[in-house]
This record gives sequence, structure tokens and C-alpha cells, in this order.
Amino acid sequence: MRIGMLTSGGDCQSLNATMRGVAKSLYNMFDDVEIIGFEEGYKGLMYADYRIMKPSDFSGILTEGGTILGTSRQPFKLMRVPDEKGLDKVEAMKETYRKLRLECLVVLGGNGSQKTANLLSEEGLNVIGLPKTIDNDLWGTDMTFGFQSAVNIATDAIDCIHTTAASHGRVFIVEVMGHKVGWLTLHAGIAGGADIILIPEIPYDINIVAEAIKKRAKAGKRFSILAVAEGAISRENASLSKKELKEKKKNSPVYPSIAYEIGAEIEQLTGQEIRVTVPGHMQRGGSPCPYDRVLSSRLGASAAKMIADEKYGYLVGIKNNDIVKVPLSDVAGKLKTVSPDASIIKEAKRMGISFGDE
Ligand code: F6P
Repeated sequence: MRIGMLTSGGDCQSLNATMRGVAKSLYNMFDDVEIIGFEEGYKGLMYADYRIMKPSDFSGILTEGGTILGTSRQPFKLMRVPDEKGLDKVEAMKETYRKLRLECLVVLGGNGSQKTANLLSEEGLNVIGLPKTIDNDLWGTDMTFGFQSAVNIATDAIDCIHTTAASHGRVFIVEVMGHKVGWLTLHAGIAGGADIILIPEIPYDINIVAEAIKKRAKAGKRFSILAVAEGAISRENASLSKKELKEKKKNSPVYPSIAYEIGAEIEQLTGQEIRVTVPGHMQRGGSPCPYDRVLSSRLGASAAKMIADEKYGYLVGIKNNDIVKVPLSDVAGKLKTVSPDASIIKEAKRMGISFGDE
């Protein structure tokens, strides 16, 4: 039996731990299993760039960050667009799958990658998806692997900033990844004791943010820490159409990112000294945390069981600490966002954390 495997999209911690979970279980369950590892995600499947893996390839990688197969971003919207040499990408992937006589393709990927996984499943391939991303924005699972490890790193960054902010009495903004959603910022912000948390799902009013900082200063607090999601958006901008926003940006000062823009506005409104820190891709690097190692092992072992049971066309996820399988067609194209009414938001607000909205 031949199983194909690939890692697609932005990397994260625990990709290797997940592949190891799948491989160890398969080798343990079957005598005749051969795993084909595609290089750099869907690109490897398109251009038949692959390696026949050995069991030893999966040894010693539980704690290793990144991916032993390499990865690449192959945007879903371009999947139906031929490559520069006129190659039909979807047909090419199907051809590789057929030629290699694969029983199943295991895709470790986030939103876009699972959309492609669903497309291949609809085209008749046996596909199983595994939920990867530090953003935790994949529909159908409570948790994606990589998320908790990234929370740890972003929290460490906020912890480090705390001491220097306290010493100098400064306002610090830590910009946290997360793409269009606020999960990472929300969790790292609470874990790091941020005073203000700005996430895309709750558009902020900069005057309310400035007031929250002034209130802290009046209460004798010498510093404030803001955890700002890279996708944070002001209430004013959120109310504009895409076209209006583009027009507005043409006539506004250019900042390297949202944290710098917010920093400049706060400096003007409060007169306080502002510093911005962007941990950036650090948040995707290094060794997976124990939670992710356990999650990855469980997801990987469950994917292997689904192969044994010939259950295809699903994403393997986790709900209420139980492993679940969710049809890829339900997952494709949906984003799991933070609800502004979620109890975690209410609890944070009760503690006095400002989200810049009231
Ligand atoms: O999806 C993971 C992620 O790290 C996002 O949080 C971030 O917006 C994006 O990838 C960065 O992408 P790239 O690695 O292509 O710069």
C-alpha cells in the first residue's frame, strides 16, 4: 500500500511531529506500507517531485520544527490556472497520484491547502486533511497544531517586553501574527498580561484605545502593553468598502505595519513614548510545545486509522478533546473566527482588558 504525504502553505511547529504520528502508526499497522513524501507541498505532486520515505526518516523528528518535506504556497485561486508552461495543475496532480498508484494522499495544511485537498477529493482522489496553522482559523477543529507553540512564543515576547516597559515607563505594542483572525493575539495577549488587545474581529476606535492608556497612567501605572493582531482594523476602516479603503490608503502616511500606524496615532493622542515590537516569523519557528506534540501524535495516529478503515474525504480535527472527522467539503472555504460575544472576550473585559471598542 502506498500513501502520499505533503506539507503545504506556511510552515509551523509540529508538522514533523504530525507526519511522524501518521508514519509510525502506518508502519506499525501494516507490513506493506510505503510512504511517498512530496517535496514542497502541492508543487511536488504537480511536478512528480517526490521521495520514497524510509521509516528512519521519521525518527528523531518529534521535536524538530519546520518540515522535512519542505513547503510552498500554491494559492487555491491559481489551481485552475495553467502554469507558465501551460501545464494543467489539477490534471498533473491527478496524474502523479495515478501513476504512483497511491491509496491515499495525506495533506498537512491550513485553509487554502484544505480547499485544494477538497478539490482533489471531488476529483476522485482519496484524501485526508490534517489541520496545520499557527492561526487556529481552520473550520471544523477546536485546535490546529502549531497554534499552542506559537502562543508560547508570542507570550514569551510579551513577557520580555513587560520588564523593559516597566523599567522605562513606556507604552509598548507587540504585533502578533494570525492573518485575518485574532486567536493568537487573544491567547498570547491574555497569557502575557496585555492591557489592551486589538483583534480583527473587534474593530477598534483609536480614541478609546488612547483613553484606556491615559486611564492607566492616571491610576499610576507607568507602562501599558498592547497586543495587536497583524490583521487588526479600526472601526472607521472596517466601515469602508474595499475601494474606499484603497483610496484612503493612497492619501495616508505609509507604515511598515498596523502596529506602527497605531503607535503613531497613540503617540499623538497621549503624548506617551511608544515602542513597537514585531516577533514575526519567530512565532512559527522552533520546537513544538508538549501540547502540540500530543495533539499531532493523536491526529496522525487517527489519520492512519482512517486509512485502515478506508475513510476518505475528511479533515481530522479535535472537538472537546475528542478526535473527530469532518468532511473536507464542510471545511473548504470557511474561516473560524473569534466571536466578539465569546465568553473568553467577556472574561478578559471583566478583568479590565480593553479591546478598544467600549
Ligand atoms: O498562516 C500563517 C502565517 O504565519 C500568518 O499568521 C501570517 O499572516 C502569514 O502566515 C505570513 O506568511 P508568509 O510566511 O508568507 O510571510
